[in-house]
Amino acid sequence: MIPPDAPSEIRSASSPLTSTLPKLRGPAKKVALVTGGTGGIGTACCRYLADDGVHVVVVDLDQAKCDALAASLPTKSLGLSINITDPEAVAIGVKKIIEVFGTVNMLINVAGILSNNKLAETSASEWNKVMAVNVTGTFLVTQAVIPSMVKGKWGRIVNLSSWAWKSGGLTAGTVYTTSKGAVTSFTFSIARQYAAAGITCNGIAPCYVMSPMVTEKLTAAQRKELLEKIPVHRFCEPEEIAHCVRFLTHDMSGFINGEIIDVNAGLQMD
Ligand SMILES: NC(=O)c1ccc[n+]([C@@H]2O[C@H](COP(=O)([O-])OP(=O)(O)OC[C@H]3O[C@@H](n4cnc5c(N)ncnc54)[C@H](O)[C@@H]3O)[C@@H](O)[C@H]2O)c1
Repeated sequence: MIPPDAPSEIRSASSPLTSTLPKLRGPAKKVALVTGGTGGIGTACCRYLADDGVHVVVVDLDQAKCDALAASLPTKSLGLSINITDPEAVAIGVKKIIEVFGTVNMLINVAGILSNNKLAETSASEWNKVMAVNVTGTFLVTQAVIPSMVKGKWGRIVNLSSWAWKSGGLTAGTVYTTSKGAVTSFTFSIARQYAAAGITCNGIAPCYVMSPMVTEKLTAAQRKELLEKIPVHRFCEPEEIAHCVRFLTHDMSGFINGEIIDVNAGLQMD
């Protein structure tokens, strides 16, 4: 166990994210941008990555929350308020990250918003809002960080899709379900384009993770019904998603590309 106050170089050098096979070893200095970094899943991802010696850039809407989380992490990390739907804000933010760390070689696209409205109740403005965050935001941040990954000949991108992308949305609404289908296709597109540049792009498709999306956006009756349906009879913990992120971003995961990992307790097997 490396002490939390050890210099970041020592933490990085001994990181569990570092391969023991020299030819598969990624860069010693790993810098991860985590969007939606102060949300339920995002916070767990930031903590797990920092515990592994990664420098983390916590990106979310509230600067004070981003700063507080970044300051609590064991590696040199940074909090940055960026609205990922704003191309200019994304460009300025990524420029700042490069100035501070010199590179960004890991991207975890977590930011997302939920709509449970089905087709008839979905307004055009709601459609645009959800697509702007979940799809356009993911696209903008990915496009902005790719040049640094290409330059460093190594990168790991993980996108948060959702079980909704292939279930049609049990409780999730039409635009959310559509947006997560788009995130999945986007993952495949980037995986194919950048594999030869040493960059992998994968997705995670969870269902019902304990965060405001479950505690606030579902009724008590819906939660009770779901707990009966989910084979393990509990909701997923954010740390279980962070565990998958840790796996997909590991040096040894370079042969896993264009994969969407289901984290649904066997609710759907295919
Ligand atoms: N919780 C679940 O059950 C579940 C299931 C499947 C998929 N997901 C996906 O996982 C991801 C994280 O979900 P969560 O449960 O942690 O939700 P959450 O609401 O706790 O976190 C989402 C975060 O994204 C941030 N965000 C929203 N709009 C933004 C914007 N324009 N720019 C920057 N940041 C923005 C929010 O401020 C928030 O901190 C989402 O993409 C979600 O769709 C969640």
